Amino acid sequence: MEPGIVQAVVLAAGSSSRFKTSKTKLCFALCGQELVAYPVKLLASMHIPVTCIIGYQKENVVAALSRHAINNLSFVEQLEPRGTGHALACARPFFGAEHILVMNGDMPLLTTEIVENLIHDHLESCSTVSFVISQSADPSADSYGRIVQKEGSFQIIEARDYTGNRDSNPFVNAGIYLFKTSFLEKALDLIQPSSKTGEIYITELIRLASSMGEKVSTSIAPFDSIRGINTLRELWAAEHIKRSDLITHWMDQGVRFIAAQNVYLDFDVVLGADTVVAPGCILLQGTTIGSGCYLGAYSCITNSVIHDQTIIHPHSVIADSTIHAHSKIGPFAQIKASTVGERATVGNFVEMNRSRIGFSSKAKHLAYLGDALVGNNANIGAGTITCNYDGVSKHTTIVNDHAVIGGNTALVAPVCIGEAAITGAGSVITDDVPPHALAIARARQETKEGYADRLKERLLSEKQKKSTTATL
Ligand code: UD1
Ligand code: MG
Repeated sequence: MEPGIVQAVVLAAGSSSRFKTSKTKLCFALCGQELVAYPVKLLASMHIPVTCIIGYQKENVVAALSRHAINNLSFVEQLEPRGTGHALACARPFFGAEHILVMNGDMPLLTTEIVENLIHDHLESCSTVSFVISQSADPSADSYGRIVQKEGSFQIIEARDYTGNRDSNPFVNAGIYLFKTSFLEKALDLIQPSSKTGEIYITELIRLASSMGEKVSTSIAPFDSIRGINTLRELWAAEHIKRSDLITHWMDQGVRFIAAQNVYLDFDVVLGADTVVAPGCILLQGTTIGSGCYLGAYSCITNSVIHDQTIIHPHSVIADSTIHAHSKIGPFAQIKASTVGERATVGNFVEMNRSRIGFSSKAKHLAYLGDALVGNNANIGAGTITCNYDGVSKHTTIVNDHAVIGGNTALVAPVCIGEAAITGAGSVITDDVPPHALAIARARQETKEGYADRLKERLLSEKQKKSTTATL
């Protein structure tokens, strides 16, 4: 296809009334991406310029699309949601190409192949109008317009207005159309509003083209790929299909899902071969997992990079972080906006926030590292906490290479522990510790020989005296 022959209009101004939610359906995410972004990004990937019709909650739709880097995208406002035909007419002043491709904004499962076939067949057959149809397995097909073909002429009748035979698997309108612009310039003025709803339907253009003797063609697509999302139920069903497609794709690349039906995967997650994903894992937007990793049950990873051969034990939560190769995380670790070095261990009930832990360093149990920079081969004892917040500001703790932080140490930031220094268990460290020094900041132990027995005798006799007084 020569560039500039086709331009697209995506209809995204409707009021989403069947969703029964306060937010427009077009901003609901399916596998981590807003519904409206699917058709718009698909067209952008085909280098087709897109005009998106916005209206209801227009700021949210624009914001959702601006999160993605989309070239050649413009917006036109439909001031009132007066129907899909009216929405298309709003873009009329911006028609420039020879053909106008129109599609609903609520079809997230659409494939490039379907659009390519439509354009190819339309141009080859020199049709005035071409549109995509599909066969629904549901005889009621109550969210779709039915295709009615009589003596070579086409008509689309919305399910609610359809009074004919409902027993067969009907052909339905997918909501993707390609028009010669010259036809639209004439026909857009001729659409009569629906007598039932008063809306101006884009589907009337098909009837008009047929009645004007223009060439109308159809191309068939699989139903699952053209599903429109009008209700939360339909969103749920479509998300099942999309997620299943994503998971089977990664299975084919050598990723083992122990219970695939129980895993949640977003559209842009990347997984390496030989990685094992245990039941209940949730892998969200922007996450890349290397090869040979183990993702333990019920772990949730968002916008993070996990390098090769890393083990994430169950119930770990990782967000906006990088975990380098051969490291061990969890169980029950929480890592936010942090970096874990190669071969490091961040063990059970350890929380990291805006922190870094270096090569082969270990924080194996019950620790909090907030705004902490831990070097290589350091050891953070169980119960260590960085006291990073003074009630007004956050401060940094530095633990240099080979340092050993004793169990239950409170590191009061800002503070720096020198290379290979040691802190005694239970210390509250408020001052910097020089390299190779031992810092102990706790009360010195006092031991009284034989005192335990004497204490026990005294307590027993006091108890006996009390009970005798009570009996008298
Ligand atoms: C539409 C078709 C139906 C087809 C189905 C495929 C019409 C009249 N019906 O029905 O034949 O089988 O899609 O999924 O077109 N919109 C606007 N402005 C409006 C109204 C809607 O921009 O005034 C947008 C919506 O935001 C949505 C798209 O147009 O993205 C389609 O509207 P929707 O209400 O979902 O149409 P359907 O009832 O699904
Ligand atoms: Mg729809």
